[in-house]
Amino acid sequence: MSGSADKTFYLETFGCQMNAHDSEKVVGTLLQQGYRQVPSVEEAGLVLYNTCSIRDKAEQKVFNRLADYKKYRTQGKQFGVLGCVAQQEGEKIFERAPYVSLVCGSASYRNLPQMLVQLETGGQRVTGLDDRATDKCFETEYTARTNPHRGYITIIEGCDKFCAYCVVPYTRGKERSRTSSSVLEEARQLVDLGYTEIQLLGQNVNSYRDPDGKKSFAELLVAVASVAGIRRVRFTTSHPRDFGRDIVDVIDSVPALCDHVHLPVQSGSSRVLDAMQRLYTRDEYLERIGWIQAARRDISLTSDLIVGFPGETEREFEETLSLMDVVGYDSVFTFKYSPRPNTPALRLEDAIPDAEKARRLAILNDKQKQIGARRNRRHVGQVLEVMVEGKNPARGQWIGRTSQIKVMNFTVPAGVELTTGSYVQVRVTGSFPNSLVGEMAGV
Ligand code: 5AD
Ligand code: SF4
Repeated sequence: MSGSADKTFYLETFGCQMNAHDSEKVVGTLLQQGYRQVPSVEEAGLVLYNTCSIRDKAEQKVFNRLADYKKYRTQGKQFGVLGCVAQQEGEKIFERAPYVSLVCGSASYRNLPQMLVQLETGGQRVTGLDDRATDKCFETEYTARTNPHRGYITIIEGCDKFCAYCVVPYTRGKERSRTSSSVLEEARQLVDLGYTEIQLLGQNVNSYRDPDGKKSFAELLVAVASVAGIRRVRFTTSHPRDFGRDIVDVIDSVPALCDHVHLPVQSGSSRVLDAMQRLYTRDEYLERIGWIQAARRDISLTSDLIVGFPGETEREFEETLSLMDVVGYDSVFTFKYSPRPNTPALRLEDAIPDAEKARRLAILNDKQKQIGARRNRRHVGQVLEVMVEGKNPARGQWIGRTSQIKVMNFTVPAGVELTTGSYVQVRVTGSFPNSLVGEMAGV
């Protein structure tokens, strides 16, 4: 590729929203460096994978992709591994896949321009493996946004929580926040680009600490929601330990803040929460849920749950089930515990066999199906505002999301065409465990 006038790249992304948004910034950086994005590996001079290592399955996908690289190794293509697997495996990747010439963890993206120059001049083992020493955020002049309606803004990177099962503190480095003024400037840029919905991102979004000391997290939420042109503001992921009442207060008083909180609990057992090093008990978690449920707005609640953490007894698992009943989540993401390199939980005994984890997961998913069905039924008859996201031509229905982040499939009067990104009022006529159906009731 070096010396070629046409610098092309292909990028594939695995994992969470943080990764998806990092990729938007990586693409922006490459475009600024004179690269052109192409839709297939075949057409690309530089092939990049932005990887995820949160669970074993995610990591396995990356190594399967790396095995695919082999067939291209003679074509002069260059290969790069970015993201969490890059940080976790480091230079070992060069041993495992010698055709890879770039390994760059997410805490090092700000050095990408220099790394690209090294690659272009024939660099073989270009690395960016800053770890927890990094105290800078990845800010780009240009971000190649792929979601046309929801603009993502990272406000805090990294994690200092060190939950016993989690690789993130090792792969994404230490917690570092952006200044509130740079976040607000990006929000204004997004409005200029036509965005009306913003999602603030962070591994622990509510641990946000303005380096300039101007705004708390709740104040930042209000400030972003007050930017002229913004209609919806979301934020994810919140950690229960840092979840203050002030967040509920601002949701209650600022309509542009969406009525949804994602508050991962992981387990309903205080004993397991302690072993997980989650820094709160079941009761402390439920206290926060109480604040949210006491709000004037009907705030939807979602969570992440892990089954089969080492030593989790049947009774402790049942405590998770009972917590789900007490809270009544609108939806949950559920996971089987997956042992991860470097994490303290690796040293724990009493691993739960996979078949047992699978059994617990199935029970949990079944329970959520019932709870979700019940939670969604309450919307039937209501008129909700929906942001239009697209059309399902096969079913003649439009699809959008409510402020509570629920998927709504809805019909419109004959002859009406909607534009994606617009807002309409929809009367809910039916519900399922994971979605609502309705008919347009106005604009
Ligand atoms: N095993 C299973 N689930 C995990 N998560 C994080 N690490 C692990 C692991 N080792 C889940 C948590 C977290 C979500 C993003 O992924 O529930 O909230
Ligand atoms: Fe992982 Fe815990 Fe940090 Fe979330 S808070 S990223 S689960 S270590």
